[in-house]
Amino acid sequence: MLSDKVSIHGAWASRWVFILAATGSAVGLGNIWKFPYMTGMYGGGAFVMMYLVCIFLIGLPIMLAETLIGRRGRQSPINSLKTLAVESGAAPRWSWAALMGMLAALLILSFYSVVAGWSLDYIVNMGRGQFAGVSAEGAGGAFATLTADPWRLVLWHTLFMLLTGFVIARGVVAGLERSLRIMMPLLFVLLLVLLGYSMTTGYFMQGFHFLFDFQPGKLLDGMLAAMGHAFFTLSVGVGSIMVYGAYMPRNASIGSTVLAVGILDTLVALTAGLALFPIVFAAGLDVGEGPGLMFVTLPVAFGNVAFGQVMGTLFFILVLVAAWTSSISMLEPMVAYLVERTRLSRAWVTAGLAFICWFVGLGTVFSFNLWKQAKFFVNEGGVFHLYQWDAASGLTFFGVIDFLTSRIMLPLGCLAFVVFAGWVMGRETVRDELAMGNARLFAVTFFLMRYVAPLGILIVFAAQLWA
Ligand code: TRP
Repeated sequence: MLSDKVSIHGAWASRWVFILAATGSAVGLGNIWKFPYMTGMYGGGAFVMMYLVCIFLIGLPIMLAETLIGRRGRQSPINSLKTLAVESGAAPRWSWAALMGMLAALLILSFYSVVAGWSLDYIVNMGRGQFAGVSAEGAGGAFATLTADPWRLVLWHTLFMLLTGFVIARGVVAGLERSLRIMMPLLFVLLLVLLGYSMTTGYFMQGFHFLFDFQPGKLLDGMLAAMGHAFFTLSVGVGSIMVYGAYMPRNASIGSTVLAVGILDTLVALTAGLALFPIVFAAGLDVGEGPGLMFVTLPVAFGNVAFGQVMGTLFFILVLVAAWTSSISMLEPMVAYLVERTRLSRAWVTAGLAFICWFVGLGTVFSFNLWKQAKFFVNEGGVFHLYQWDAASGLTFFGVIDFLTSRIMLPLGCLAFVVFAGWVMGRETVRDELAMGNARLFAVTFFLMRYVAPLGILIVFAAQLWA
C-alpha cells in the first residue's frame, strides 16, 4: 500500500502546517490584486456570483482531488500521477497532465514575480512618504511612471525572484512555517483595518451593491473569466496543491482541511473587494481600470488617513508576503520533480528554474512599456493577425501568458486531475484516502468530483469556443 510512504523532500509537522502552506499558496495577488480588478472589468456582482459557484462546485472538488493524489503518491506531481496510474492499471501517460501543469506554474511565476515586484516598489515609496495626501490623479500618475520604467521593474522583478528561489533552495519546510504563522493572521488584521477605512468613505454600500447585486442576464459574460480565476486563486490545476499534499501527514482529514483553505481564500478575496471598491467610488476612479486598480486605489486611501504611511507600508509588505508564499508554491512542483529525476542538488535546480522564469518574465515587464504596442492575436474587422505592431485590439505578451495559463492550461490541468481522481483511481481508493466517516458526505463529495466538476469545466470550455 502506497499511502504509508513518506516524501523524500520532507513532511509538514501537522495538518495545521498544510493549512498554512496551502492557504499561503492560495491567498496571494489573486485575491488582493486580481479579484478586485477582474470584478471591475467584468461588471461586478454577476462575476462575483459565478466566481463563488465555480469555487465551491468546481474548484474545491479539484483541490480535494489534487490533495489526495499528492498524499497517496508522496512524490512530485509527475511521479505521483505515474505511480498511481500504474497502481490503478491505467496508462503512465497521465503524468503528462502534471508536466503541463508544472509548466503552467512556471509561466504564471514569470508574470507573478513582476507584479509582486510592483509591491516592493510601493513598500519603498510608501515608506518614504511619497503618497502623503496624494490625489487619485497623483496615484494614477505614480503607477504609470512605475510601469513605464522597464529597468525599475526589472530590478524589483529580480529581487522578488531571488526571494522566491531563496526559500525553495532552503527547503520549504524549514523557513516557511514560522513566517506564515505570523504573517497570515497579520494580513487578515490589516485587511480588516482597510475595510474599516473604506466604511468611513461614505461609499461602502455602493461598493457592497457593486459586488453583490447582479442582473441574471449578465451571468454568462464573465463566466469563463470567473472559472479561470477560481482555479488561479485556489492554486489548482498545476500541481502546487498536489506537491503540498505529498508532504501532508497520513492521519490528517483531507476534506475539512481543503474546505478550510477554500473558505479562507474566498473570505480574503471578498474582503479585499469590499475594502477596495468604496475607495474606488469615493475617489471617482474607474472600476474597469484593470491591473492597476489596487496600485492606484490603495495609495489614495493610505495617503489620506492618520498613520496612513505606516499602515500603507505594512500593507504592501503583507501583499509581498502573500505573493511570496504563493510564488514558492509555483516553483516547488518542478523543483521536486527535478530533484527526484536528476542528480542535481536542490539549490542548483532552483537557481536554473528561477532564472528561466525570470527571463520569461522580462516579456511581461516590457508589455507595460517597450513592447506596449506589440499585440498578439489581433482581430481587425474580421481579419485575424497572429502578431501586429500597434493594433487597436489583441493581447500584449503579458496578456498572452495570462490567457494561456488561466483560460487554457489551468482548466485542462484541473480537468485531468479531477478525472484522474474520480474515474481512474476509483471510488474505493478515494474513499480510503479521504476517510470521511460520514457516508452521505462522501457520496456527495465524490459525485462533485466525478461528475459536476468535469462537466462544469467542459461546459465552460465549450462555451468559450462557441462564443
Ligand atoms: N493562488 C495564488 C493567488 O491567488 C497564485 C498561485 C499560487 C497559483 N500557486 C498557483 C495560481 C498555482 C495558479 C497555479 O495569488
